[in-house]
Amino acid sequence: MKTILFCFPGNEVLAKKLSEKPGFAIGGLEIRQFPDGESYVRIISNVKDCRSILICSLDRPDNKLLPLYFTCRALKELGSSRVELVAPYLAYMRQDKRFHPGEAVTSDAFAALLSGFVDRLVTVDPHLHRHHSLAEIYSIPTSLVHAAEPISQWIKNNIQKSLLIGPDEESRQWVEAVAKAAGAPFEVLLKNRKGDRDVDVSIPDVEKYHDHIPVLVDDIISTAHTMIETVKHLNELRMKPPVCIGVHPVFAGDAYAELKAAGTGEIISCNTIIHPSNKIDLTHQLSIVL
Ligand code: R5P
Repeated sequence: MKTILFCFPGNEVLAKKLSEKPGFAIGGLEIRQFPDGESYVRIISNVKDCRSILICSLDRPDNKLLPLYFTCRALKELGSSRVELVAPYLAYMRQDKRFHPGEAVTSDAFAALLSGFVDRLVTVDPHLHRHHSLAEIYSIPTSLVHAAEPISQWIKNNIQKSLLIGPDEESRQWVEAVAKAAGAPFEVLLKNRKGDRDVDVSIPDVEKYHDHIPVLVDDIISTAHTMIETVKHLNELRMKPPVCIGVHPVFAGDAYAELKAAGTGEIISCNTIIHPSNKIDLTHQLSIVL
């Protein structure tokens, strides 16, 4: 069966690399907005009896969702036998419970929505915290790519003596796996979130590690305040400038500039969302599961 990749705006680099897999071709997809803000979608390839794969990272998801739905529907109507979605960053995974009465549990609602019009989902390290697997909320087959190994490889290639730090309990799963693969010591801090941009992070115990470079590892960097508070502690403790690594460089608003200005050494991310900090390429890992 012929496989055609369709690329959403902002995913061109990844889509081009993935299309190098034997048997894959890039299809034509036009997405634009009418003057009134409604979306226009046109498939410019013959998809009859083909397997269609959409490449669309789901950061800033709200404006992408309708065009995504229209595209999947059109592909099916035009005869595509399967419609799969590669979303290296999967949105709406953090609101995985009703923290306050009346709140929408958007992780579950979003999963139900996507499961309704996509036949398979491929993603990178989704934020699984209270849900232990995507199967708990997605009713379609899902495949996961893990960034721990490529991140640890980057650390081994670029930092001689590293001390890995996870800024909160939720980051333990990533920091532990990366530290193990990199053969480096690690510690996990405690975080208390009081608001979107208001977090307290416990003081790291770095007594024995003054000759190490602190490397903060987390899955998502959004407002960057989790990282900023940790960097502040490390600077006060007179550690070497910390390196910050995020799997998913969401960087809301001025977060990237703010993190840089906080006294960070280097900011590194995986290419799950296109960003100047992308230094760790997961194309190979994604290609394997496609
Ligand atoms: C926690 O839920 C995540 O693993 C990250 O720690 C969090 O998303 C970071 O958010 P922010 O960059 O806004 O502090």
